[in-house]
Amino acid sequence: MNYILNILQKKDYYKKPPIWIMRQAGRYLPEYRKIRNSADSFLDICYNPKLACEITLQPIKRFDFDAAIIFSDILVIPNALGCDLKFDKGIGPKLSKISSSDDLKALKIDNINGFLKPVFEAVSLARQKLDKNKSLIGFSGCPWTLACYMIEGGGSKNFDNIRRLAIEDKVFFRELMNILTNSIIKYLELKIEAGCDILKLFDSWAGIVPNCQIEEYIINPTIKIVDYFKEKYPNIPIICFPKSIGFNYLKFSEKVNCDAIAFDQNIPLNWIRDNFQNRDIVAQGNLDNFILAFGSKDDISKRVDNIINIIGKKPFIFNLGHGILPQTPIENVEFLVDKIRS
Ligand code: CP3
Repeated sequence: MNYILNILQKKDYYKKPPIWIMRQAGRYLPEYRKIRNSADSFLDICYNPKLACEITLQPIKRFDFDAAIIFSDILVIPNALGCDLKFDKGIGPKLSKISSSDDLKALKIDNINGFLKPVFEAVSLARQKLDKNKSLIGFSGCPWTLACYMIEGGGSKNFDNIRRLAIEDKVFFRELMNILTNSIIKYLELKIEAGCDILKLFDSWAGIVPNCQIEEYIINPTIKIVDYFKEKYPNIPIICFPKSIGFNYLKFSEKVNCDAIAFDQNIPLNWIRDNFQNRDIVAQGNLDNFILAFGSKDDISKRVDNIINIIGKKPFIFNLGHGILPQTPIENVEFLVDKIRS
């Protein structure tokens, strides 16, 4: 039985919710670190179909999660478009910056298909090896979040440059958002064709957008992507994660025709139950990743009970509120999975 797909497609309900974890393949796993240490760079692994497939399956082998998420990164799209990209250990991503309409002319907008072929090969390989009962999630960053990294040239504390440019140079900003929206659609379509059966859209920096710009920068670009897939691939469910938008999760859910919403850990459980699950929206989330990493068994147990008691009575997929931290002890993840399944 593919629990996650049944929940998303048929709004089925299971007393013991299925579980997968954001960033489930990564540095908290010794078997990942072993491959990571033997490779030259993180990107070399992303662009090596055999290794990317192997890493995708590692957390499934170890914890029997209900879905796999293809091992890659949201920043491979800017990389395909021609932005230099590197990940230095302990520093995070560094990209060549873009800031003007001239920079946009240099972007290689027809590159997704060819440049990212290794990612699609990794998807096909993983699909062949993955049990039929498990979903394979294909993901992308949303236009706003990708634009954040491209304009700032990496991570940032406040993302001041993008917030300024979006207001100051509207022509440039709109064109960039358009290029990204089209690239994301192309990329996710090729992931579906290669074997992904669920899509997840990460808008990790949606939370820095002011209320008056949330429709233009977050909701409308997501609608374009979701509507494209709802028309062409109506059976492929879409999970949206507009992280940290707080009260605007409501407006988002009224306008975006997605199947499930992933909630971050700041969102109250009663609010999710009363405003989303009562409208047939599947909820995913939202255990605090710090509790899983640094909490005692008792801390974890109490939070999990609370989540399941409040939002586990309607269609629900267990996950964290954000990606699992590299410091997370394996035994805490084992404890979590056992608890949810017992
Ligand atoms: O298991 C999975 O979830 C699939 C793999 C995955 C990665 N990145 C691998 C990765 C996924 C889904 C992502 C998404 C991603 N990448 C997001 C959106 C989700 C979120 O967390 O908000 C973002 C914002 C990025 C960009 C990114 N990639 C940053 C900021 C960093 C550096 C910080 C960090 O966590 O290391 C990365 C690197 C990265 N992506 C690693 C992994 C396993 C670590 C690289 C390494 O091993 O050295």
